[in-house]
Amino acid sequence: MNFYNKNRYEAMKKSLAAAQIPQPPADEPIEIDDSALFTFAAWGDPQIFHGSPSRSVRFAVACRDIANMRGRLDAIAVLGDVAEMGAECEYRLAADLLNGISEKYGDFLCITGNHDIRKRNYANQRAKFRDFVKSVSGGIFDNHNGRYYFSKDYPHCKFILMGSDSNTFEGTNIGRQQREWLDSQIAQAESEGKTAFVLNHQTLKWTNGLPVTWGGNGKWRGSIGIQSDKVREIFEKHNNVIFITGHLHYGFSIYNYEDCGCFKALSVPTVGVVNHGNMSRDSQGYIISLYEDKIIIRARLHAEGRWLDKNLPGAYIEIKLK
Ligand SMILES: [Fe+2]
Repeated sequence: MNFYNKNRYEAMKKSLAAAQIPQPPADEPIEIDDSALFTFAAWGDPQIFHGSPSRSVRFAVACRDIANMRGRLDAIAVLGDVAEMGAECEYRLAADLLNGISEKYGDFLCITGNHDIRKRNYANQRAKFRDFVKSVSGGIFDNHNGRYYFSKDYPHCKFILMGSDSNTFEGTNIGRQQREWLDSQIAQAESEGKTAFVLNHQTLKWTNGLPVTWGGNGKWRGSIGIQSDKVREIFEKHNNVIFITGHLHYGFSIYNYEDCGCFKALSVPTVGVVNHGNMSRDSQGYIISLYEDKIIIRARLHAEGRWLDKNLPGAYIEIKLK
């Protein structure tokens, strides 16, 4: 670690220690249903930033709620924008917090967001991101042979982790090679009777409340961008895709889940930054359980150590599997 990052890292650690991280109540812990085939937490945008210590606190509180849980998650999935500036000090702090709860989860599945790669040399950032994932307990990565997309198979589901082919400021560049790979990976899962959890940082155009959930601006902003329609075409060829994204920083609402017919789109609030919309409480995330015939998605207010009231929008989602 270079001098700049080392000093920043030490300052961030000190600031987090001084913040006296709140302890979420432990009387309504996350419990694992033993009849579920696979259960994981989905978190959007920790966006750890040396200039905003409150983000580290929100992320740390979510980790504490996981530490309080009964049982163990099969995985934690983080949907990009781990680090505001893509800086080594930010990744290191995020890794410290995740490694502090390593006994509570199996695999760490993580994709890049625009903040992780923008404004810097793409190849260097990709390598830095891979090193971050490797430094986290259970981190799943591939050899990044000139790309950042890969998959991970489990007995009843497959995770397909997408990533931008180049550094873009706001969207994801998904080139033809990645799109062909995506199609083949989904088809493979489909042929094996598996649900395909496809992870990408940004959702599709006109989906999950866009453009409202991105401040009402533009026809593509907040989405993948230029290749959005081509990705949608791939999803529409299959019937087993659950597309899970972050980026919008929009709290639990009617927009989180959209049934797009043959595929489903789930947009996850931010766990580290302030959420937009009416539900702006800190440290929001989803706990997702896969069963033989359904998927149950529950909204967790990590900072409060409790589930969001089941009757509120975005709180409880049930997807019937065919
Ligand atoms: Fe983002």
